[in-house]
Amino acid sequence: MTTGSLLVVDLVLAVLAAAGWLGGGAAAAVRRRPLALALAAVALLATLARAVTITALARAGWWFAAEKVLVTAPLSLAAVAVAGPRLLRVPRDVRAVAVRLLFAGYATSSALFVTVLHGYPASAGAGLLAVAATVAATAVSWRALGARSSRAISRVALVVAVGALVTGTGLTVVPAAAPAVPHDHQYRNARTTDEPTRRFTLTAGTATVRVSGRDVAAWAFNAQVPGPELTATVGDVVEVTLRNRDVGRGVTLHWHGYDVPNSQDGVPGVTQAAVLPGQEFVYRFRADQAGTYWYHTHSVSDVGVRMGLYGVLVVRPGPVAAGLDVTVPVHTLAGGSLPAPRTERVEAGSPVRLRLINTDSTTHRYALAGTAFRVAAIDGVDLRGPTSLVDTAVLIPAGGRYDLVFTAPATPVALLVDGRVVYSTGPVSTPTGDWPVLDPLTYGAAAAVPWSRFDRHFTLVLDRGLDLHDLLPRYAHTVNGAADPDIPPQVVRLNDAVRFTIVNRSPTVHPWHLHGHHVLVLSRDGRPATGSPLWLDSFDVRPGEVWEVAFRADNPGVWANHCHNLAHADAGMTLHLMYS
Ligand code: C2O
Ligand code: CU
Repeated sequence: MTTGSLLVVDLVLAVLAAAGWLGGGAAAAVRRRPLALALAAVALLATLARAVTITALARAGWWFAAEKVLVTAPLSLAAVAVAGPRLLRVPRDVRAVAVRLLFAGYATSSALFVTVLHGYPASAGAGLLAVAATVAATAVSWRALGARSSRAISRVALVVAVGALVTGTGLTVVPAAAPAVPHDHQYRNARTTDEPTRRFTLTAGTATVRVSGRDVAAWAFNAQVPGPELTATVGDVVEVTLRNRDVGRGVTLHWHGYDVPNSQDGVPGVTQAAVLPGQEFVYRFRADQAGTYWYHTHSVSDVGVRMGLYGVLVVRPGPVAAGLDVTVPVHTLAGGSLPAPRTERVEAGSPVRLRLINTDSTTHRYALAGTAFRVAAIDGVDLRGPTSLVDTAVLIPAGGRYDLVFTAPATPVALLVDGRVVYSTGPVSTPTGDWPVLDPLTYGAAAAVPWSRFDRHFTLVLDRGLDLHDLLPRYAHTVNGAADPDIPPQVVRLNDAVRFTIVNRSPTVHPWHLHGHHVLVLSRDGRPATGSPLWLDSFDVRPGEVWEVAFRADNPGVWANHCHNLAHADAGMTLHLMYS
């Protein structure tokens, strides 16, 4: 079983246990004997079964099990110890066991709340709050059910509940202050002063565009979605003037995957101020990496990109080669799909390059039917020794790019995205839904990792949790238990070899994206990458997965490091990499 499914099974057991104990207690309180016993039996089994799932999770990695071992296990043991023995000899009046069953219910549900609301890392504060809640709720039930108790017991319960509550609240609410990201720093002047050889102007504005046969409201560059395709040749100095006509929430340009100097990276509040209506900003950088990239606004990025503020950036190594070179930037706008399907004739024998770009916040599945092909590049970087593939699908993470190349056969070829034909050279009706999916970690020819030791190591544990920033509670997407802006930055020095481990203990995919650097994939779930070196800027960390990646700190600045499901990024899952 994968760690992702173990997490789900454990969560289901936790809900069954908590609901079973609480339901059993309630049924006992109203003297529904058979129901009470049945529910309690389910709860007992579920609670005991978690010994297996929690052990398995702890073996998969402490990150997956920390609070379950430290908080859930003791509370579950208390539940079983208090309620279990009485289930073996149930008194004639089942109401006599109601408080015990309810206690077990409160203990297991408060542990469940610790997992769901607090997550990783486990903290003494959260554990104490769970204890306080359990004791207080039991005391109230005791009273309400008129069960007899001694004064001494009530006193002890009160003292424990209040003590745990006060300490737990204190530990939870007083946050460890995270060093703020400086808004002004010394990297500002790294912009090239060379004369531009390619000039573009992008004007952002509200617009109406046609998508899947409907007119929809969008935010667009030069009144089109996607914006104009920017092309350059290696060695060019690219200058892009960004103007904002009327996008009230501001715009910027971020060159996704293009490792520009920090001052040109387009992150509002970090590398520049957002460009407001009537303002402009000029970007300039040297095109020194060939490949398929894209640009998008980074101001209110979730809404901004979704509404249409994105476009393609292609840098070619030299003069345009013979054959066909097609970009396919996939996007979902107002429920419709872009680009519109396109068919073009191509002469048999000519070389074709399809540049697939996923500009959405979720993964897409691409299938190329009717021809063998190779994956020539991922995230703009050529692969080493890519082999020929047939009837194989590829999954492209949010923000990611794959370049597929093939020689046009005499028969038609079609590219399908999630089953929809997006590009074709004629009619094709091959079913592609059951094709296997390419694992890039085992594709192509291996080469030695360029580092034998690392100067720094960071671990990012992705989860969900309650975030109390600004006293406005929100259910945030968290990194190491904190949400933006409270996640401490990763600090590196120029030329450090940096390794970081990314762990996903949440039930959703997190497409990870570091600005300003490509990272080399070292391993996934402990298994080393065996294919071509994979230098990625966007990669899907699926539920339960552990990725190890590395990079050379060779581009000084303050860089966003975030989930490219942009709704997650805006809901806390953003931190920064800084050079000291
Ligand atoms: Cu494509 Cu910070 O984003
Ligand atoms: Cu995410």
